[in-house]
Amino acid sequence: MSAAPIPRRAALQRLLGWPAAMACLGAAGLAAVGFAVLWLRRPRGVPVTTLAKLPPGSALRARYGESPIIVLNVGGEIRAFDAVCTHEGCPLGWNPVQGLIRCPCHGGAYDASGKVVEGPPPAPLHRLEAAVGDGTIFVSRR
Ligand code: FES
Repeated sequence: MSAAPIPRRAALQRLLGWPAAMACLGAAGLAAVGFAVLWLRRPRGVPVTTLAKLPPGSALRARYGESPIIVLNVGGEIRAFDAVCTHEGCPLGWNPVQGLIRCPCHGGAYDASGKVVEGPPPAPLHRLEAAVGDGTIFVSRR
């Protein structure tokens, strides 16, 4: 006893159906992996300013939530610190001539890595995580 012949159209659909379905699944899988990689590589944190506003050698004050921060561009490397003095909590500012983060209250000074280089501050500045994505600077707590 022989099976009934399969019409040509049905045979072609069977033949092409599985590979096409597998190709679609493969493409969808690749797209999902690509999206996941982009999502994992995105900068984390809060946008605080743009790279265009912070050329190398400069600094600016910004806010991270309620906290004042200072963001530096040190030869293209973006660094961010809490902008509150570790001595008695005065607001800090950037001195471009000295290349130091200065405290106006008692003469404290920090270098571009947040280390105390002058005055009474008992501890270095708390450094935040800084990243650049699409020309925007993002900051987050370490
Ligand atoms: S509060 Fe900054 S040096 Fe005293």
